[in-house]
This record gives sequence, structure tokens and C-alpha cells, in this order.
Amino acid sequence: MIGIFDSGVGGMTVAHAVEQFCPGRALIYFGDLARTPYGSKSPAVIRRYARQNIDFLLAHGARMIIIACNSAASVAAEDMRREFSLPIFDVIGPTVRRAVEISSAVSGRIGVIGTRATINSAVYPRKIGQINQELRVYGNECPLLVPLVEEGWLNRRETRMILRYYLRPLKMRQVDTLVLGCTHYPLLRDLIQPRIGKRVRIVDSSIEVARELRQYLNDHPECDTTTGGSKFYVSDMTPAAAATARRIFGRPIELQVQQAGG
Ligand code: DGL
Repeated sequence: MIGIFDSGVGGMTVAHAVEQFCPGRALIYFGDLARTPYGSKSPAVIRRYARQNIDFLLAHGARMIIIACNSAASVAAEDMRREFSLPIFDVIGPTVRRAVEISSAVSGRIGVIGTRATINSAVYPRKIGQINQELRVYGNECPLLVPLVEEGWLNRRETRMILRYYLRPLKMRQVDTLVLGCTHYPLLRDLIQPRIGKRVRIVDSSIEVARELRQYLNDHPECDTTTGGSKFYVSDMTPAAAATARRIFGRPIELQVQQAGG
């Protein structure tokens, strides 16, 4: 099974992309709704949550892990790879590679939106700079967006206004590429595109990690992730969670409530 975790429902955009790119694979999803959002927590707390989530997924039969949360990936991915001996993917590396490829061919100006933890970690500018130092990277933290998505406020006037406010500085920098550095943001993509400008290329971290996972599974046929049906767990049930899951997958998703750790 492929274990996937996020702080809430946002990582389901990754689970859905994995279904599309790697059909027939069994998924086990954990959304830590009881402790969302992660992005406003300290790195030490986020690392503890990540460790507990991986333990939970392992206990439920995961053979590989996708950290489907930029906040967790930005501060915990390297530690988790040292601590656990199974393959661990995260949303940041594939997204960085794609953004560099696109922007290098245009004006070399990349915007990144994400949670406070992700933007403060400076993981995107650092990793982009490791590939191409010529590129300019402009980040903007957007702490209100995860709660809005978790509440299902996907097309409210307030959400549109907040997005305009968050995107304005990046629009003024004339970015040619915009990284959705949070797996909740694909749910707002249709609102983001007209506000950042229709010529700006949007890079969606959920699609990029699913694409790389497909390649990995093709190269490693010994990784049997096809047994068992997919299962979806959350650490708390909120009124909007099931509706958002249904919206992402286009079908009802049965969410079971279980805790990942103390
Ligand atoms: N979907 C998570 C991410 O990609 C949201 C993290 C949070 O809970 O702040 O960053």
C-alpha cells in the first residue's frame, strides 16, 4: 500500500492524482484533521506529528510513504528519511524540478505561495537555487487559505478577496510561474489563475509528485503496492471534510476516524 498523509483534506489532491497516474495501486490516507493546520506550528511539533503519522501508516500496511503536506515536508522530510527505512516521497522535490524547467524557459521569475512553515523554511528558494542560481524566487505566506479550504469556502467573496491580497505582491514581481506550495491550494486553482494572470504557469505539487511516483513504480516493479483496497482515515470528522473529499474524487469517500498518536 502507498501511505499518504497530510494535516487535513488537502493531501487528498495528492491521493487523487496518484489514482490518476498510478491506477490499480492501493492507497492508505491519513488526514490529521484534529491537529490541522500544521503550517502555523513549530518545526519540532510538525516533526513529531509527521513521525506519528508515518507510524500509523506503517501499522496499517504502508510500504512507501508520500508526505502530501508541504509544511511537513519542508521541516521533516530529511529527518523522516533518516529515521525510517522505507521509500519516502514528498511534494517539494518534484515541484521544484518542474517549476525550474518551466521558468528557465521564460523570464526566470518564480512565485511560491504556501503556509507560514513552508515559506519560513525557505525550502523552495534553496532547492530551486541548487538547480539554477539565475532564477528569482518570491515567496508569500498565506496562513488563511488552509482554514478556508478545510471549511469548504471554495468560492466565497471573502476567499476571492483574500486571494487577491496574497497574490498581489507576486503579480507586482511579474512572476512567470506560480508554485502552489500547499496541497490544499489546488482546490482554489480556478480562483488563483485569473488573479495571478492567465499567462502565469501554475505548478501543482500534487500532480508533480504523482508523476514522479509513476516513474519510480515503473522502475521498481518489485514494489508491490497493488494489494488491498484504498482506505481513508482522519483524526477527526468535520462537517466539510466528507464534502471536500467528494469534491476532490468526484465520488463519495468513506472516512474512518482514528488517531495517529498521543
Ligand atoms: N496541505 C498542507 C501543505 O501542503 C497544509 C499544511 C497545514 O496544515 O498548514 O502545506
